[in-house]
Amino acid sequence: MGSVISGVIAGTGGYLPARSVSNDELAAEKHLDTTDAWIVERTGIRRRHFAADGETASSMGIAACQAALAQAGASVADVDAVIVATATPDSAFPSTAARIQGGLGVTRGFAFDLSAACTGFIYALSVADAMIRTGQARGVLVVGTEVYSRILDWSDRGTCVLFGDGAGAVFVVAEEGSTRGLLSTHLHSDGRHGDILQVDGGAGSTGGTGVVRMAGREVFKHAVTKLAAAVDEALAANGLGHDDVAWLVPHQANIRIIEAMGRKLHLGLDRVVVTVDRHANTSAASIPLALAEATRDGRIKPGDLVLMEAIGGGLTWGAALARF
Ligand code: UT7
Repeated sequence: MGSVISGVIAGTGGYLPARSVSNDELAAEKHLDTTDAWIVERTGIRRRHFAADGETASSMGIAACQAALAQAGASVADVDAVIVATATPDSAFPSTAARIQGGLGVTRGFAFDLSAACTGFIYALSVADAMIRTGQARGVLVVGTEVYSRILDWSDRGTCVLFGDGAGAVFVVAEEGSTRGLLSTHLHSDGRHGDILQVDGGAGSTGGTGVVRMAGREVFKHAVTKLAAAVDEALAANGLGHDDVAWLVPHQANIRIIEAMGRKLHLGLDRVVVTVDRHANTSAASIPLALAEATRDGRIKPGDLVLMEAIGGGLTWGAALARF
């Protein structure tokens, strides 16, 4: 019997567009009836980055992947697959993943996008892990990259203040008999709640390309209960408790949801990676951007158990546990 293969996060990378916009600047620029105080109190968001003209999900994703490969000490020759989670692809096709593959100069393997809104990175990580365990790939770039600034209704203060642009990536590699790696991933969706968080159009729609629509309070209620269940499920599946968790790396939608998850897990905010104040909600990019920040500044160390969770349109939600 051969030793068990696991998918190890060998490198992380992030990319944020140069332009960072404060709440006050956004309110003034878009003529919004809002205040910095309201946004900070309800969400924890103080700033967000917006992509420049010409910057896309693929161009930002390429930069994030290059950073992830560099941190892993790997090269494009080590990449078998590129899996991209995005709700804001450059085009319906080629996939953003194929564009990133080409842009990186990867000349073999395969690339595809998947769609699970803000939970997309957890979904993509799950697919990468399964492919590595079954021997279909040994080096997988898992990317979340978003330009939500292009799908917002700037007259809807209830949504347009919440989102930002950016990209994050991890390079997941196969290791035999390793004590590190992805322990498990847990995916869920419930399409009956699709209407409470949606883009009300798209490439195949008769109604135009669409913008983000959200019943915020409804999503908030689902978030608190469903994320709590998902983290319990992830810990129970591995016979672990909250004491074992070194870092919670949550999807960054709202500091109140993040704090609620920290309380549930008995983790102070000093053991939770928070970027929502500076990045706002970057959807599928938020977790890999947070991983990139916390591995670079030395918070996440080799051997640390990291718990990730996210919820988003679909509804989709899920959790992942990884030993770094
Ligand atoms: O990433 C995917 C997952 N998404 C989430 O997890 C988001 C979950 N939801 C939330 O984070 C919160 O529900 C929001 C931050 C979106 C909203 O906070 P809330 O405390 O649920 O506020 P609300 O939507 O119930 O609105 C309260 C009031 C309303 O006014 P009235 O009806 O009470 O007079 C809104 O019109 O706040 C008003 N409001 C605003 N006021 C100033 C909504 N947006 C704004 C704004 N500035 N930007």
